[in-house]
Amino acid sequence: MRDYTADNITEAVVKEYASKTSDPRMQRIITSLITHMHAFVKDVELTEAEWFAGIQFLTDTGKMCDDKRQEFILLSDTLGVSMLVDALSHPKTGLGTESTVLGPFYVEDAPEQKNGSSIIRRDLSARPTLMRGKVTNAEGAPIAGARVDVWQTSANGLYDIQDKDAPEWNLRGRFTTEEDGSYALISETPVSYSIPTDGPVGRMLDATGRHGMRPAHVHFMLSADGYRPLTTHIFVKGDAYLDSDAVFATKDSLVADFKECEDATLAERYGLTTPFTLLEYDFGLMPAAHS
Ligand SMILES: [Fe+2]
Repeated sequence: MRDYTADNITEAVVKEYASKTSDPRMQRIITSLITHMHAFVKDVELTEAEWFAGIQFLTDTGKMCDDKRQEFILLSDTLGVSMLVDALSHPKTGLGTESTVLGPFYVEDAPEQKNGSSIIRRDLSARPTLMRGKVTNAEGAPIAGARVDVWQTSANGLYDIQDKDAPEWNLRGRFTTEEDGSYALISETPVSYSIPTDGPVGRMLDATGRHGMRPAHVHFMLSADGYRPLTTHIFVKGDAYLDSDAVFATKDSLVADFKECEDATLAERYGLTTPFTLLEYDFGLMPAAHS
C-alpha cells in the first residue's frame, strides 16, 4: 500500500520499522518515537512553515554545540526531559542523597586536590565558602576513598569554560574522602545565574515567556567502589529562584544552609579570614547492587 494519508501513515511507518528492527529495545523505542511524533504533529495540526521552523531550530541547536557548549543538553534540561530521565533512573527511596541533572558544564579530569585546599584560581573578591562533610553509606558508616568531583560558577555567573578571562579549572576540583569519610574544600559562595540565552534555547525561553535563571548551587559528582555513582547539586537556601529553576532540577533535600561563619579557629585551620561562608553537607551513597 502506497496511498498514504494522515489516517494510515503512522501505522505504515511503525510496521516498516518494527518488521526490520531485530533489537527488541530499539524496536520499542523507535515504535514509540514514531507514534508520539506523529500524534504530536496531528495534535497541533503542524503547518509546513512550522515544520520547517522546527527543523531550523534543531539545526541551530546542533550548530551551537562544540566541545565547550552543549545546547542539546540545555534544550533537554529546559524542557524538563533531563529531570524526567533522572527521576525515572533514581526514584525517591528516602535513602542516600538525591540526584539531579548533570547540566551542560561538567568537564572530566579536573585537578585532584588535597582535602581542605581551594578551587578558587583567581580572585573576584567573592566571599569564600568552606564546604565540608562526610560521605557515608545508607547506614551512616563512612566511605573512605570516595571521589568527590565539584564544580560551580564564579561570582560573575559564568563557568570557567564560558569565561575567556577565567584560568583553566577555575572552581573545579576532585577530592578523595579521608579514612573517616570526610571531605573539605574551599570555593566561592555560589550565586544564582542565567543559563546561556544567546542561542536557540534562549529564543525558546523568550518565545514562551520563561526566564533562564537557576538558583545558586554547587555541582557534585560522587563515586566509590561498590556504590552507585551520584550526580547532584547542593542549592543555597533562601535563593529567589528555588521555585522557578529554568531546568526544573531543585529538590527540597538538596537545599542547604550556606551560613555566615565567624569561627576563628575554623578560619585559621583552613587559611580563611572571618567572616566566611560555611556549608556542611553529608552525602549518602547507595550500594551498587540497588541500581
Ligand atoms: Fe550549574
